This record gives sequence, C-alpha cells and structure tokens, in this order.
Amino acid sequence: MSDNVLKIADHGTVRVIAIDRPDKLNALNASTLEALHRAFDQTAADAAVRVVVLTGSGPKAFVAGADIAEMADLTPMEARDFSLRGQRMMRRVERMPKPVIAMVNGFALGGGLELAMCCHLRIAADTARLGQPEINLGLIPGFGGTQRLLRLAGRAATLELCLTGAPIDANRALQLGVVNRVIPAAELEAETMQLANQLASSAPHALRSMLDCVNIGGECGIEEGLEYESAQFGLVFATQDMREGTRAFLEKRKPAFAGH
Ligand code: COA
Repeated sequence: MSDNVLKIADHGTVRVIAIDRPDKLNALNASTLEALHRAFDQTAADAAVRVVVLTGSGPKAFVAGADIAEMADLTPMEARDFSLRGQRMMRRVERMPKPVIAMVNGFALGGGLELAMCCHLRIAADTARLGQPEINLGLIPGFGGTQRLLRLAGRAATLELCLTGAPIDANRALQLGVVNRVIPAAELEAETMQLANQLASSAPHALRSMLDCVNIGGECGIEEGLEYESAQFGLVFATQDMREGTRAFLEKRKPAFAGH
C-alpha cells in the first residue's frame, strides 16, 4: 500500500507509515498533511491494525518541518488554513484509538517535532536532533508545538526551545521528557518494532480505554478525569480479553488476547 508521499506497510498487526519525501527531508506540504490524515482515518477504522509506527523515509530525517517553500508566499488567511489543516491532522493522530509510536530516525524540527509530540510514544535514534526552529524564520509553531511541548516538557523547556530555536540532541530530549527512549541508530528499527509488537499483543480495548483516559484527563479537571477512568474501567469488564487476562494469571499461564 502506498500514497505518493507516504509508504505504508503492514507487518502482522503493526502498520508502519513512512513520510516519503526524503529529498526534502520529509517536509510537510499540504498534500502530505492530507495524505497523513487519510491514512490515519483508514488505519483507525481497520481492526486488523493494532499499533502504528510513524517514521520518515531515508537516513537523515523524521520530518524537517512544515514545507518552507510552500509556506513562503502564503497570505495570512492561507497560513491560518495551513495551520488548521496541520492541527486537525495531528489531533487525529493524538486521538487514534490504537497506540501510535513515533520512530524518530533523524531531524524532528518544527512540524516534525509537533508531529512526533502528538504520537503516544517517541523512540529516538541517538543521532536525532529535535527542536522548534520557527523563530529563525520569523515564525512561530503552528501545528500545536507551543501547546503540546508545554504539556509534555513544561514551561522552561518550551520557552527555551521555542525562543532560541536551537535544536537539542536525543539525550537532552530524553532528560526533558520529550522522548521516551533513545536507541543507537542502527538498532532503532528493531527496538521500535519489538515495542510495537509487544503492544500489538496486548488487549486492544484496554489500550484504547487507556489512551482515552490519558487524552481526556490531560484536558479536563481531576474529578471529571477520575470519573471517566471509572467508567472506562467498568467498560473493559465487558471484554473477553479482560476475562482471559485475569483467568490466565490465576491459571499461571500466558494470556492470549484475541481483541474481543
Ligand atoms: N521545508 C522545505 N524544504 C526543506 C525543509 C523544510 N522544512 N527542510 C529541508 N528541506 C529541503 C532543503 O531545501 C533541501 O532541498 P534542495 O536539495 O532542493 O535544496 C533538502 O531538503 C535537503 O536539505 P539541506 O538543508 O540541504 O540539508 P542539510 O543537511 O544541509 O540541513 C537541516 C538539514 C534540517 C538543518 C536544514 O534542512 C534545515 O534547517 N531545514 C529547515 C528546518 C526548519 O526550519 N523547520 C521548521 C520549518 S517551519
């Protein structure tokens, strides 16, 4: 399966979506934003896919940002629409009902870091460089960067990255909580697929409830969040996987989650 700006391949129940503009360091132009939105819509609805890995083609970049060539001559109204289009796509990724892992294989700058931040987990190569360099173009982040970085890494790190525009290396990103793991570049794919397969063998309804709880909880007060968690906790008791998981523990065997 492929789109002209994406490469999409299924490995069992893990779908790998690669942004495929390596000669432009996978910069996000309008058609790439559209293709990604379409791909995530289809993937959300496809019960055969349990986990998504999002990455960039080529050895250099995850995504080096929004496409500067395409942005340069936009009118203010067109720029607002471009920002909204990117934000909607990234919200789609964030609200996916199955885990999405960003495999950050190189530069994740501007829209690239914004895209990585809307994924549920971020695994970075030790060679990756991450940042919000928009200030160097006289711009600000427009795909949610100021908001998601603030929630992920706090005010001090957000202001440092956004105000200076200076990229950070993967280990600093790990210290700041911007990425979950740093892996030697040569092992990035194998380690990421191992994590993806581990999640793919878990109970998908429980994973979905967990994603919903964390998404909703990050955006509401503690009382509503706790109430939502209780409702989701009750809901997973309707699944066969919950019965299987608890029974397998009591019978001292490995559970086999069928996704029901
Ligand atoms: N938008 C459009 N094209 C981009 C791009 C972007 N965000 N980032 C890289 N490219 C293109 C370059 O223009 C170049 O195209 P060309 O070969 O047709 O000239 C190609 O990708 C390779 O990039 P290049 O700059 O030659 O690679 P490099 O290794 O010297 O530098 C970076 C890599 C990431 C440091 C540099 O490309 C860069 O600073 N990119 C912009 C990052 C940015 O500001 N992102 C935020 C945008 S809002």
